[in-house]
Amino acid sequence: MVKPIEIVILAAGVGSRMRSEKPKVLQTLGGVPLISHLLETAQDLNPVKIHLVVGRHASDIKNRIGDRIDINWVIQEKPKGTGNALAQVVPHLFLESRLLVLLGDAPLVKRETMEALLSENSDLVVLTTKVSNPTGYGRIVREEGKLSEIVEEKDTSSSQRLINEINTGVMAINSAKVGAWVNKITDDNTQKEHLLTDMVKIACKEKALVSSIEVSDSSEVQGVNTFSQLANMERVLQKNKAEKLMETGVQIMDPTRIDIRGTLIAGKGVVLDINCIFEGKVVLGDNVKIGPNCVISDSRLDSGSVLKANSVAEGAEIGKNCSVGPFARLRPGALLGDDVSIGNFVEVKKSIFGVGAKASHLAYVGDSEVGAGANIGAGTITCNYDGANKSKTKIGKNAFIGSNSSLVAPVSVGDEATVGAGSTITKDVKDGELAVERSSQRNVSGWMRPNKKD
Ligand code: UD1
Ligand code: CA
Repeated sequence: MVKPIEIVILAAGVGSRMRSEKPKVLQTLGGVPLISHLLETAQDLNPVKIHLVVGRHASDIKNRIGDRIDINWVIQEKPKGTGNALAQVVPHLFLESRLLVLLGDAPLVKRETMEALLSENSDLVVLTTKVSNPTGYGRIVREEGKLSEIVEEKDTSSSQRLINEINTGVMAINSAKVGAWVNKITDDNTQKEHLLTDMVKIACKEKALVSSIEVSDSSEVQGVNTFSQLANMERVLQKNKAEKLMETGVQIMDPTRIDIRGTLIAGKGVVLDINCIFEGKVVLGDNVKIGPNCVISDSRLDSGSVLKANSVAEGAEIGKNCSVGPFARLRPGALLGDDVSIGNFVEVKKSIFGVGAKASHLAYVGDSEVGAGANIGAGTITCNYDGANKSKTKIGKNAFIGSNSSLVAPVSVGDEATVGAGSTITKDVKDGELAVERSSQRNVSGWMRPNKKD
């Protein structure tokens, strides 16, 4: 019978190298906390238990992760080292399991890599990798090719410091032996901490089966100790996401200049220009084009629509063949029907636009319903807020709102109705009517401009 899998994630460190109040595992990577990436992969392995070791930030982490995932929360009172962290889990372990130990700050380890480690027939398997700059990592020391010891940076001799094979921190351990081994770890080292890495030496001394697996792409196993490393890892994650999208036929103008901080689902023929940020869940239909410098959160664009340069869409639903931007802002509840056109410097909030309606320049449309084919002129404002309450504006089908009009809500303009430019509309306008509210024009003939005085 195959033994069940148990996973331990060590996340009780203080993350001192970031000098941040926020616990390291809650720093965001791809728009979600570091630890969430690891928890997601860990869950894919269907473990019987995930033990998460946390320290003084326990409640922050619990609040952020919530109870979506079944976790055994284990508290390490003081961060006395990774060996001490694992020791806290031992009383919670099943005796007959395959135990995988992960570091909360190395979140990109792939499922296949974890599986390879778990299927190795050893008492202790260490995941290693080779890097060009091993500074800061534990070095893999071998005797006659066999793993014999891991030496932490601060304890290395000058020759060991040159070793470029490093400990990724990921290990699979025979759960029947882990308790005894953890007890043998001492703090006899420069950091005066209980180092989990000492387990290798301890296991080797007992002639237990100790082995290692080397992962060739070291970007997968990078650890995050500093903001610089976090930024590098963000690029690795984004590159992976971009590659996956391009494999499905999405054209990304520059995969080094895209940020997907959530999920992006894109159809065929989609083109994404540079410097766009996608947050939450974004769904793009076939042939959608996103211009440069757009920020899109929790929004949907149906097939054939275009979001032009420097536009922002948040909680918006955009129908087919719409044109939005450049410099447009769609706020939550902006629901555009098909063939709608929203131009530059137009802000839309909680408003429905019927098929083919247009607001081509400089307008604010909030808490409104705009009928199909209506045209909203430049400078139109729906005055939806009286300082205390919000009210609705209704604009009928094929209505025409002249430039620089204020529609003081609650108010409605009927189907086919026209509002003359510069009007302040406070009374409802019936279907087909023309409403003009402005003083009549006076032309003064023979008018002399003032002359400059001496
Ligand atoms: C660790 C490894 C090092 C390896 C590197 C890979 C040890 C002793 N060193 O070093 O060999 O090359 O990871 O990235 O294991 N933690 C606790 N409790 C503690 C201390 C740490 O839970 O008392 C957690 C941290 O939250 C972190 C993880 O363990 O998620 C690793 O700790 P960290 O201090 O970052 O270890 P490194 O110095 O990076
Ligand atoms: Ca680390």
